[in-house]
Amino acid sequence: MTEKKLLELNKISKTYKKKKRTINALSEVDLILNKKDFIGIIGKSGAGKSSLLKIIGLISKPTEGVYKLEGKEIASLSEKEKAKYRNKYFGFILQDYGLIDSYTVYENIEIPLSYAEIKIDAKEKREKISDVLDKVGIKQEIDEPCNKLSGGQRQRVAIARSLINDPDIILADEPTGALDNETAKDFLTLLHMINKNLNKTIVLVTHDEKMLLYCNRIIQIENGIVSEKKT
Ligand SMILES: Nc1ncnc2c1ncn2[C@@H]1O[C@H](COP(=O)(O)OP(=O)(O)OP(=O)(O)O)[C@@H](O)[C@H]1O
Ligand SMILES: [Mg+2]
Repeated sequence: MTEKKLLELNKISKTYKKKKRTINALSEVDLILNKKDFIGIIGKSGAGKSSLLKIIGLISKPTEGVYKLEGKEIASLSEKEKAKYRNKYFGFILQDYGLIDSYTVYENIEIPLSYAEIKIDAKEKREKISDVLDKVGIKQEIDEPCNKLSGGQRQRVAIARSLINDPDIILADEPTGALDNETAKDFLTLLHMINKNLNKTIVLVTHDEKMLLYCNRIIQIENGIVSEKKT
């Protein structure tokens, strides 16, 4: 079976300058993401996992190497064009979810939708948001302020928000750190559904081997060096 290549990293390195020290967070990473991959990224604290995820998600620039998205080299794009690609291709689920507590579920999801530069009226917008909340099973919570939700519900809001612009790739960075086992399992089940039924590519950074259950590929990082483990 030939899989569809979505994204390609070629000899990608990332160094940070901290005072007089240079930190090699990533060294010559070669990685291809295919459509519908469910990739787990594992490695010790400080290994370079978040650095890699940020480069994949066009949040941070590599120091060296070539990054291609559907064959297109990204380095030559302006910041504005890059932001467009970021919005079109990626949905993010961050560790603390980055929700605005005093906003309702609806208002939190409206934020990335407004970045997408599509013109829709209020009714369509409500339908779109309601639809994505339905997919993750919390439609009835649409007008609740986020500070009234449980940890599991907040997580679902974060997942819904990552899906709102219908991205190809969902990037999740240690999203289950603070959750109990049951909620972490629900999260995994949802990601699995998003991968299988909604055809999204998933990249999940985790410390927890149990989270690798549905991964078709496992990438290990040690001191900025990437290797692929047999699944
Ligand atoms: N903005 C930054 N400025 C300077 N150094 C950084 C920066 N971000 C990361 N680093 C350094 O780069 C290395 C890799 O960091 P990274 O955040 O990618 O690790 P990680 O694998 O995600 O770790 P963790 O599991 O603790 O989240 C570490 O040595 C870290 O201190
Ligand atoms: Mg990290």
